[in-house]
Amino acid sequence: QELELKLEMLEKGGYEHFMLKEIYEQPRSIKDCMRGRIYPQEGKVQLGGIKEFADKLKNIDRIIIVACGTSWHAGLVGEYLIEEYARIPVEVEYASEFRYRNPIITEKDVVIAISQSGETADTMAAIEMAKEKGATIFGICNVAGASIPRLTHAGVYTHAGPEIGVASTKAFTAQVTVLTLMAFYMAQQRGTLTTSKLIELLTELDHIPEKIQIALESDDIIKKVAEKIKDSKNCLFLGRGSGFPVALEGALKLKEISYIHAEGYPAAEMKHGPIALIDEEMPVVFIATQNSSYEKVISNIQEVKARKGIVIAIVTQGDIEVKKMADYCIEIPDADEAFLPLLATIPLQLLSYHIAVMRGCNVDQPRNLAKSVTVE
Ligand code: G6P
Repeated sequence: QELELKLEMLEKGGYEHFMLKEIYEQPRSIKDCMRGRIYPQEGKVQLGGIKEFADKLKNIDRIIIVACGTSWHAGLVGEYLIEEYARIPVEVEYASEFRYRNPIITEKDVVIAISQSGETADTMAAIEMAKEKGATIFGICNVAGASIPRLTHAGVYTHAGPEIGVASTKAFTAQVTVLTLMAFYMAQQRGTLTTSKLIELLTELDHIPEKIQIALESDDIIKKVAEKIKDSKNCLFLGRGSGFPVALEGALKLKEISYIHAEGYPAAEMKHGPIALIDEEMPVVFIATQNSSYEKVISNIQEVKARKGIVIAIVTQGDIEVKKMADYCIEIPDADEAFLPLLATIPLQLLSYHIAVMRGCNVDQPRNLAKSVTVE
Protein backbone atom coordinates (compact mmCIF):
# COMPACT_ATOMS: atom_id res chain seq x y z
CA GLN A 1 0.00 0.00 0.00
CA GLU A 2 2.90 2.31 0.78
CA LEU A 3 4.23 1.59 -2.68
CA GLU A 4 0.87 2.46 -4.19
CA LEU A 5 0.85 5.78 -2.35
CA LYS A 6 4.35 6.59 -3.54
CA LEU A 7 3.39 5.71 -7.09
CA GLU A 8 0.41 8.01 -6.92
CA MET A 9 2.57 10.87 -5.60
CA LEU A 10 4.89 10.31 -8.50
CA GLU A 11 2.02 10.35 -10.96
CA LYS A 12 0.81 13.63 -9.53
CA GLY A 13 4.21 15.12 -10.29
CA GLY A 14 4.52 16.87 -6.93
CA TYR A 15 1.03 18.38 -7.02
CA GLU A 16 -1.49 17.68 -4.32
CA HIS A 17 -4.17 16.60 -6.76
CA PHE A 18 -4.38 15.43 -10.36
CA MET A 19 -6.70 18.32 -11.10
CA LEU A 20 -4.09 20.88 -10.05
CA LYS A 21 -1.39 19.09 -12.03
CA GLU A 22 -3.64 19.09 -15.08
CA ILE A 23 -4.48 22.78 -14.67
CA TYR A 24 -0.77 23.61 -14.60
CA GLU A 25 -0.06 21.37 -17.57
CA GLN A 26 -2.10 23.57 -19.89
CA PRO A 27 0.70 25.70 -21.38
CA ARG A 28 2.27 22.42 -22.48
CA SER A 29 -0.88 20.56 -23.48
CA ILE A 30 -2.01 23.42 -25.70
CA LYS A 31 1.39 23.57 -27.32
CA ASP A 32 1.17 19.82 -27.99
CA CYS A 33 -2.26 20.31 -29.46
CA MET A 34 -0.99 22.90 -31.96
CA ARG A 35 2.28 21.17 -32.82
CA GLY A 36 2.67 20.61 -36.57
CA ARG A 37 -0.76 22.09 -37.21
CA ILE A 38 -0.09 25.82 -37.44
CA TYR A 39 2.31 27.75 -39.66
CA PRO A 40 2.00 31.33 -38.43
CA GLN A 41 4.47 32.84 -40.90
CA GLU A 42 2.55 31.46 -43.85
CA GLY A 43 -0.84 31.99 -42.27
CA LYS A 44 -1.62 28.30 -42.71
CA VAL A 45 -3.41 25.64 -40.68
CA GLN A 46 -2.92 21.97 -41.47
CA LEU A 47 -5.24 19.35 -40.04
CA GLY A 48 -4.14 16.00 -41.42
CA GLY A 49 -7.09 14.20 -39.85
CA ILE A 50 -9.73 16.03 -41.88
CA LYS A 51 -7.63 16.78 -44.97
CA GLU A 52 -9.67 14.49 -47.23
CA PHE A 53 -12.74 16.58 -46.50
CA ALA A 54 -11.10 19.92 -47.33
CA ASP A 55 -13.20 20.29 -50.49
CA LYS A 56 -16.42 19.30 -48.84
CA LEU A 57 -15.90 22.04 -46.25
CA LYS A 58 -15.96 24.65 -49.00
CA ASN A 59 -19.60 23.95 -49.72
CA ILE A 60 -21.31 22.91 -46.53
CA ASP A 61 -24.36 24.82 -45.33
CA ARG A 62 -24.36 23.81 -41.72
CA ILE A 63 -22.42 22.17 -38.91
CA ILE A 64 -24.00 20.39 -35.96
CA ILE A 65 -21.87 19.93 -32.86
CA VAL A 66 -22.88 17.17 -30.43
CA ALA A 67 -21.34 16.55 -27.01
CA CYS A 68 -22.06 16.22 -23.28
CA GLY A 69 -20.88 18.05 -20.17
CA THR A 70 -17.72 20.10 -20.44
CA SER A 71 -17.27 18.98 -24.05
CA TRP A 72 -20.63 20.59 -24.84
CA HIS A 73 -19.31 23.87 -23.45
CA ALA A 74 -16.32 23.57 -25.77
CA GLY A 75 -18.87 23.09 -28.56
CA LEU A 76 -20.53 26.40 -27.68
CA VAL A 77 -17.17 28.14 -27.94
CA GLY A 78 -16.72 26.37 -31.30
CA GLU A 79 -20.02 27.82 -32.48
CA TYR A 80 -18.77 31.37 -31.89
CA LEU A 81 -15.45 30.67 -33.59
CA ILE A 82 -16.76 28.82 -36.65
CA GLU A 83 -19.56 31.29 -37.28
CA GLU A 84 -17.27 34.28 -36.77
CA TYR A 85 -14.34 33.14 -38.89
CA ALA A 86 -15.63 30.52 -41.34
CA ARG A 87 -19.16 31.96 -41.63
CA ILE A 88 -20.85 28.55 -41.48
CA PRO A 89 -24.04 28.28 -39.41
CA VAL A 90 -23.49 26.05 -36.38
CA GLU A 91 -25.90 24.33 -34.03
CA VAL A 92 -24.72 22.90 -30.73
CA GLU A 93 -26.71 20.06 -29.22
CA TYR A 94 -26.59 17.93 -26.11
CA ALA A 95 -25.99 14.47 -27.56
CA SER A 96 -28.55 13.07 -25.13
CA GLU A 97 -31.29 15.33 -26.51
CA PHE A 98 -30.27 15.09 -30.12
CA ARG A 99 -30.37 11.30 -30.19
CA TYR A 100 -33.92 11.07 -28.91
CA ARG A 101 -35.38 13.72 -31.21
CA ASN A 102 -36.05 13.26 -34.85
CA PRO A 103 -33.52 15.87 -35.99
CA ILE A 104 -33.28 16.99 -39.59
CA ILE A 105 -29.95 15.76 -40.91
CA THR A 106 -28.89 15.37 -44.53
CA GLU A 107 -25.85 14.16 -46.48
CA LYS A 108 -24.76 17.76 -46.74
CA ASP A 109 -24.34 18.16 -42.99
CA VAL A 110 -21.12 17.87 -41.07
CA VAL A 111 -21.51 16.70 -37.48
CA ILE A 112 -18.66 17.34 -35.06
CA ALA A 113 -18.71 15.07 -32.01
CA ILE A 114 -16.58 16.26 -29.09
CA SER A 115 -15.56 13.84 -26.36
CA GLN A 116 -12.59 13.70 -24.02
CA SER A 117 -12.93 9.97 -23.33
CA GLY A 118 -14.30 8.96 -26.69
CA GLU A 119 -16.63 6.57 -24.85
CA THR A 120 -19.68 8.63 -23.82
CA ALA A 121 -22.76 6.53 -24.63
CA ASP A 122 -25.05 9.41 -25.60
CA THR A 123 -22.46 10.96 -27.89
CA MET A 124 -21.86 7.59 -29.55
CA ALA A 125 -25.58 7.10 -30.13
CA ALA A 126 -25.87 10.60 -31.63
CA ILE A 127 -23.01 9.82 -34.02
CA GLU A 128 -24.58 6.55 -35.11
CA MET A 129 -27.88 8.23 -35.83
CA ALA A 130 -26.32 11.08 -37.84
CA LYS A 131 -24.17 8.60 -39.72
CA GLU A 132 -27.22 6.57 -40.71
CA LYS A 133 -28.76 9.70 -42.16
CA GLY A 134 -25.71 10.24 -44.30
CA ALA A 135 -23.93 13.07 -42.51
CA THR A 136 -20.15 13.35 -42.44
CA ILE A 137 -18.89 12.91 -38.90
CA PHE A 138 -15.75 14.49 -37.47
CA GLY A 139 -14.53 13.63 -34.00
CA ILE A 140 -12.59 15.73 -31.51
CA CYS A 141 -11.27 13.27 -28.95
CA ASN A 142 -8.52 13.05 -26.40
CA VAL A 143 -8.14 9.30 -25.93
CA ALA A 144 -6.53 7.80 -29.01
CA GLY A 145 -8.16 4.66 -30.37
CA ALA A 146 -11.29 5.04 -28.21
CA SER A 147 -14.72 4.08 -29.56
CA ILE A 148 -15.68 7.51 -30.94
CA PRO A 149 -12.58 7.98 -33.10
CA ARG A 150 -13.38 4.56 -34.56
CA LEU A 151 -16.99 5.51 -35.31
CA THR A 152 -16.27 8.81 -37.07
CA HIS A 153 -15.24 9.44 -40.69
CA ALA A 154 -12.38 11.71 -39.72
CA GLY A 155 -11.16 13.66 -36.75
CA VAL A 156 -8.61 15.65 -34.88
CA TYR A 157 -7.08 14.46 -31.63
CA THR A 158 -6.62 16.96 -28.82
CA HIS A 159 -3.30 15.48 -27.61
CA ALA A 160 -3.83 16.79 -24.06
CA GLY A 161 -2.46 13.59 -22.54
CA PRO A 162 -4.31 11.45 -19.98
CA GLU A 163 -6.72 13.39 -17.80
CA ILE A 164 -7.30 11.73 -14.42
CA GLY A 165 -9.25 14.37 -12.47
CA VAL A 166 -12.96 13.82 -13.03
CA ALA A 167 -13.50 17.56 -13.57
CA SER A 168 -12.18 18.26 -17.04
CA THR A 169 -9.57 21.03 -17.32
CA LYS A 170 -6.76 20.53 -19.81
CA ALA A 171 -8.99 18.44 -22.06
CA PHE A 172 -11.44 21.34 -22.28
CA THR A 173 -8.82 23.91 -23.30
CA ALA A 174 -7.39 21.42 -25.81
CA GLN A 175 -10.88 20.91 -27.30
CA VAL A 176 -11.25 24.68 -27.58
CA THR A 177 -7.82 24.85 -29.23
CA VAL A 178 -8.81 22.22 -31.80
CA LEU A 179 -12.06 24.06 -32.51
CA THR A 180 -10.07 27.28 -32.97
CA LEU A 181 -7.81 25.47 -35.44
CA MET A 182 -10.84 24.00 -37.22
CA ALA A 183 -12.49 27.43 -37.49
CA PHE A 184 -9.32 28.90 -38.98
CA TYR A 185 -8.88 25.87 -41.25
CA MET A 186 -12.42 26.18 -42.58
CA ALA A 187 -11.92 29.93 -43.01
CA GLN A 188 -8.79 29.21 -45.02
CA GLN A 189 -10.65 26.70 -47.24
CA ARG A 190 -13.58 29.03 -47.78
CA GLY A 191 -11.61 32.23 -48.14
CA THR A 192 -13.45 34.00 -45.33
CA LEU A 193 -10.19 35.16 -43.74
CA THR A 194 -7.38 36.80 -45.67
CA THR A 195 -3.88 35.35 -45.42
CA SER A 196 -2.69 38.46 -43.60
CA LYS A 197 -5.47 38.11 -40.99
CA LEU A 198 -4.61 34.41 -40.62
CA ILE A 199 -0.94 35.31 -40.13
CA GLU A 200 -1.95 37.75 -37.41
CA LEU A 201 -4.29 35.31 -35.62
CA LEU A 202 -1.97 32.30 -35.85
CA THR A 203 0.99 34.33 -34.63
CA GLU A 204 -1.02 35.28 -31.60
CA LEU A 205 -2.33 31.74 -31.08
CA ASP A 206 1.25 30.50 -31.13
CA HIS A 207 1.92 32.64 -28.02
CA ILE A 208 -1.21 31.62 -26.11
CA PRO A 209 0.66 28.96 -24.06
CA GLU A 210 2.87 31.73 -22.61
CA LYS A 211 -0.17 33.83 -21.82
CA ILE A 212 -1.76 30.86 -20.07
CA GLN A 213 1.39 30.59 -18.00
CA ILE A 214 0.89 34.22 -16.97
CA ALA A 215 -2.79 33.60 -16.17
CA LEU A 216 -1.71 30.75 -13.86
CA GLU A 217 0.38 33.20 -11.87
CA SER A 218 -2.72 34.89 -10.41
CA ASP A 219 -3.03 32.00 -7.99
CA ASP A 220 -2.52 34.12 -4.84
CA ILE A 221 -5.38 36.51 -5.48
CA ILE A 222 -7.56 33.57 -6.57
CA LYS A 223 -6.90 31.91 -3.20
CA LYS A 224 -8.02 35.10 -1.46
CA VAL A 225 -11.25 35.12 -3.45
CA ALA A 226 -11.74 31.42 -2.68
CA GLU A 227 -11.33 32.14 1.03
CA LYS A 228 -13.96 34.88 0.82
CA ILE A 229 -16.64 32.91 -1.04
CA LYS A 230 -15.97 29.33 0.04
CA ASP A 231 -18.98 29.18 2.37
CA SER A 232 -21.45 30.60 -0.13
CA LYS A 233 -24.51 28.54 -0.91
CA ASN A 234 -24.82 29.85 -4.46
CA CYS A 235 -22.68 31.49 -7.07
CA LEU A 236 -23.47 33.12 -10.41
CA PHE A 237 -21.17 33.23 -13.43
CA LEU A 238 -21.91 35.78 -16.13
CA GLY A 239 -20.39 36.50 -19.51
CA ARG A 240 -21.27 37.70 -22.98
CA GLY A 241 -20.32 36.39 -26.40
CA SER A 242 -17.78 33.62 -26.10
CA GLY A 243 -17.52 34.65 -22.44
CA PHE A 244 -20.91 32.99 -21.95
CA PRO A 245 -19.74 29.38 -22.45
CA VAL A 246 -16.76 30.26 -20.25
CA ALA A 247 -19.26 31.29 -17.55
CA LEU A 248 -21.13 28.00 -18.00
CA GLU A 249 -17.91 26.06 -17.66
CA GLY A 250 -16.86 28.06 -14.58
CA ALA A 251 -20.19 27.26 -12.92
CA LEU A 252 -19.98 23.58 -13.84
CA LYS A 253 -16.47 23.26 -12.38
CA LEU A 254 -17.57 24.86 -9.13
CA LYS A 255 -20.66 22.70 -8.66
CA GLU A 256 -18.90 19.50 -9.70
CA ILE A 257 -16.12 19.64 -7.17
CA SER A 258 -17.25 21.95 -4.35
CA TYR A 259 -21.00 21.15 -4.35
CA ILE A 260 -21.86 24.86 -4.28
CA HIS A 261 -24.90 25.53 -6.40
CA ALA A 262 -23.64 27.55 -9.34
CA GLU A 263 -25.23 28.82 -12.51
CA GLY A 264 -23.77 30.27 -15.67
CA TYR A 265 -25.84 32.81 -17.55
CA PRO A 266 -25.43 35.22 -20.43
CA ALA A 267 -24.88 38.53 -18.61
CA ALA A 268 -27.69 40.18 -20.59
CA GLU A 269 -30.20 37.58 -19.36
CA MET A 270 -29.52 38.47 -15.73
CA LYS A 271 -32.45 40.89 -15.77
CA HIS A 272 -34.81 38.08 -16.75
CA GLY A 273 -34.41 36.14 -13.54
CA PRO A 274 -31.06 35.74 -11.77
CA ILE A 275 -31.06 39.40 -10.67
CA ALA A 276 -33.79 38.45 -8.19
CA LEU A 277 -31.25 36.29 -6.36
CA ILE A 278 -28.68 38.99 -5.77
CA ASP A 279 -28.03 40.17 -2.24
CA GLU A 280 -24.93 40.76 -0.12
CA GLU A 281 -24.31 37.02 0.13
CA MET A 282 -24.30 36.27 -3.57
CA PRO A 283 -20.92 36.06 -5.31
CA VAL A 284 -21.13 36.93 -9.00
CA VAL A 285 -18.21 36.08 -11.22
CA PHE A 286 -18.01 38.21 -14.36
CA ILE A 287 -16.00 37.62 -17.49
CA ALA A 288 -15.20 41.31 -17.96
CA THR A 289 -12.25 41.43 -20.31
CA GLN A 290 -11.72 44.30 -22.74
CA ASN A 291 -13.44 43.13 -25.86
CA SER A 292 -16.50 44.02 -27.88
CA SER A 293 -18.93 43.56 -24.99
CA TYR A 294 -16.81 45.28 -22.32
CA GLU A 295 -19.05 48.34 -21.83
CA LYS A 296 -22.17 46.21 -21.63
CA VAL A 297 -20.62 43.92 -19.02
CA ILE A 298 -19.65 46.99 -17.00
CA SER A 299 -23.29 48.03 -16.77
CA ASN A 300 -24.20 44.52 -15.62
CA ILE A 301 -21.54 44.80 -12.91
CA GLN A 302 -23.07 48.09 -11.77
CA GLU A 303 -26.47 46.40 -11.54
CA VAL A 304 -25.04 43.71 -9.29
CA LYS A 305 -23.16 46.20 -7.13
CA ALA A 306 -26.31 48.30 -6.73
CA ARG A 307 -27.84 45.19 -5.10
CA LYS A 308 -24.77 44.60 -2.91
CA GLY A 309 -23.65 41.40 -4.63
CA ILE A 310 -20.00 40.37 -4.29
CA VAL A 311 -18.38 40.99 -7.66
CA ILE A 312 -15.40 38.94 -8.79
CA ALA A 313 -14.23 40.00 -12.23
CA ILE A 314 -11.90 38.37 -14.70
CA VAL A 315 -10.30 41.40 -16.35
CA THR A 316 -7.66 42.27 -18.91
CA GLN A 317 -4.26 43.10 -17.43
CA GLY A 318 -4.06 46.80 -16.60
CA ASP A 319 -7.83 47.32 -16.45
CA ILE A 320 -8.92 50.43 -14.55
CA GLU A 321 -12.68 50.71 -15.08
CA VAL A 322 -13.79 47.39 -13.58
CA LYS A 323 -11.35 47.77 -10.70
CA LYS A 324 -13.33 50.79 -9.53
CA MET A 325 -16.44 48.64 -9.05
CA ALA A 326 -15.50 45.04 -8.44
CA ASP A 327 -14.68 43.58 -5.03
CA TYR A 328 -11.96 41.41 -6.59
CA CYS A 329 -10.27 41.52 -9.97
CA ILE A 330 -8.31 38.66 -11.44
CA GLU A 331 -6.15 39.68 -14.39
CA ILE A 332 -5.46 37.74 -17.55
CA PRO A 333 -3.20 38.86 -20.40
CA ASP A 334 -4.70 40.88 -23.25
CA ALA A 335 -5.52 38.86 -26.37
CA ASP A 336 -7.67 38.90 -29.47
CA GLU A 337 -11.27 38.04 -28.67
CA ALA A 338 -10.82 34.71 -30.46
CA PHE A 339 -8.61 33.51 -27.63
CA LEU A 340 -10.58 34.85 -24.70
CA PRO A 341 -12.11 31.45 -23.76
CA LEU A 342 -8.68 29.82 -23.56
CA LEU A 343 -7.40 32.44 -21.13
CA ALA A 344 -10.49 33.31 -19.09
CA THR A 345 -11.12 29.64 -18.24
CA ILE A 346 -7.83 29.30 -16.35
CA PRO A 347 -8.66 31.46 -13.27
CA LEU A 348 -12.10 29.82 -13.02
CA GLN A 349 -10.51 26.36 -12.87
CA LEU A 350 -8.17 27.52 -10.11
CA LEU A 351 -10.99 29.22 -8.23
CA SER A 352 -13.14 26.09 -8.10
CA TYR A 353 -10.10 24.00 -7.22
CA HIS A 354 -9.16 26.14 -4.21
CA ILE A 355 -12.73 26.40 -2.98
CA ALA A 356 -13.13 22.63 -3.14
CA VAL A 357 -9.85 22.07 -1.26
CA MET A 358 -10.85 24.61 1.42
CA ARG A 359 -14.20 22.83 1.83
CA GLY A 360 -12.43 19.52 2.28
CA CYS A 361 -13.94 17.96 -0.85
CA ASN A 362 -12.53 15.07 -2.82
CA VAL A 363 -11.28 17.16 -5.72
CA ASP A 364 -10.20 14.39 -8.06
CA GLN A 365 -13.15 12.12 -7.47
CA PRO A 366 -16.24 14.16 -6.67
CA ARG A 367 -19.24 12.27 -5.34
CA ASN A 368 -21.70 10.76 -7.82
CA LEU A 369 -19.64 11.68 -10.88
CA ALA A 370 -17.72 9.48 -13.28
CA LYS A 371 -14.89 10.34 -15.64
CA SER A 372 -16.69 8.75 -18.53
CA VAL A 373 -20.35 7.93 -18.70
CA THR A 374 -20.77 4.80 -20.75
CA VAL A 375 -24.41 4.30 -19.85
CA GLU A 376 -27.27 6.43 -21.10
C1 G6P B 1 -18.67 13.19 -17.62
C2 G6P B 1 -17.39 13.81 -17.10
C3 G6P B 1 -17.24 15.22 -17.67
C4 G6P B 1 -17.31 15.20 -19.18
C5 G6P B 1 -18.57 14.49 -19.70
C6 G6P B 1 -18.48 14.21 -21.18
O1 G6P B 1 -19.76 13.85 -17.09
O2 G6P B 1 -17.41 13.86 -15.70
O3 G6P B 1 -16.00 15.78 -17.27
O4 G6P B 1 -17.29 16.51 -19.67
O5 G6P B 1 -18.73 13.22 -19.05
O6 G6P B 1 -17.42 13.31 -21.38
P1 G6P B 1 -16.60 13.16 -22.69
O7 G6P B 1 -15.56 12.12 -22.38
O8 G6P B 1 -17.55 12.70 -23.76
O9 G6P B 1 -16.00 14.47 -23.02
